[in-house]
Amino acid sequence: MIELKNVSKWYGNYQVLTDCSTRINKGEVVVVCGPSGSGKSTLIKTINALEPIQQGEIWVDRVPVHDPATNLPKLRSHVGMVFQHFELFPHLSVTENLTIAQIKVLGRSADEAKQRGLKMLDRVGLMAHKDKFPGQLSGGQQQRVAIARALSMDPIVMLFDEPTSALDPEMVGEVLDVMVGLAHEGMTMMCVTHEMGFARKVSNRVIFMDVGGKILEDCTRDEFFNHPEERQTRTKDFLNKILQH
Ligand SMILES: Nc1ncnc2c1ncn2[C@@H]1O[C@H](COP(=O)(O)OP(=O)(O)OP(=O)(O)O)[C@@H](O)[C@H]1O
Ligand SMILES: [Mg+2]
Repeated sequence: MIELKNVSKWYGNYQVLTDCSTRINKGEVVVVCGPSGSGKSTLIKTINALEPIQQGEIWVDRVPVHDPATNLPKLRSHVGMVFQHFELFPHLSVTENLTIAQIKVLGRSADEAKQRGLKMLDRVGLMAHKDKFPGQLSGGQQQRVAIARALSMDPIVMLFDEPTSALDPEMVGEVLDVMVGLAHEGMTMMCVTHEMGFARKVSNRVIFMDVGGKILEDCTRDEFFNHPEERQTRTKDFLNKILQH
């Protein structure tokens, strides 16, 4: 579903991604972790071309993302993306937030968009809040609306960039529950997260990135968590640090 071949990217002289290659099959859940500044957000953003690359190839569902001739709005319309900050439109109701892109980007009728949007809102357990504005919802609820909004577009893959890291601790669980549900339903997912409980529960693979934008590990969940002797020292140090607390 997603293939990265020798992807490199620079900001000026600074190399932010170094020769990154990986492949995510349909229905796979891949967790990306690593220290701050290692290029995790940059890597995930290259997949729907929110960040251009200077070298390598990126393929999403056989579409060449790196090819200047590719229709990027079309590609992005079916690659769901959920960020740390929910980025809902504050002046639109929850229902309007769920329908606007379906109408403007996918050309759906208002009725069809509403039906699909509310179905996804129900899926994340928030039907009772359909007429509220984002400011009237908790952070966890806003993030669940953001997930419902992405799902309303019938994505072929979902990309998450630290979707729970800006939330109060008691709201993390409700968002992770929605993500676990999606994983169990067979959604193809790439998730930048340090929620190792989530990674242990549903990921098929774990990618560990290190400073300079290098993929240091790309292994199965079992290899990542249960075979520390096979991991790089850098990975073990990182895991020890985040699992200590
Ligand atoms: N627009 C930009 N211009 C220049 N440098 C940038 C830009 N965006 C990011 N960087 C640099 O690229 C590196 C990778 O950033 P990125 O945000 O991808 O890291 P990250 O692994 O997601 O970090 P974090 O865990 O803090 O979110 C960092 O050193 C960052 O300072
Ligand atoms: Mg980041």
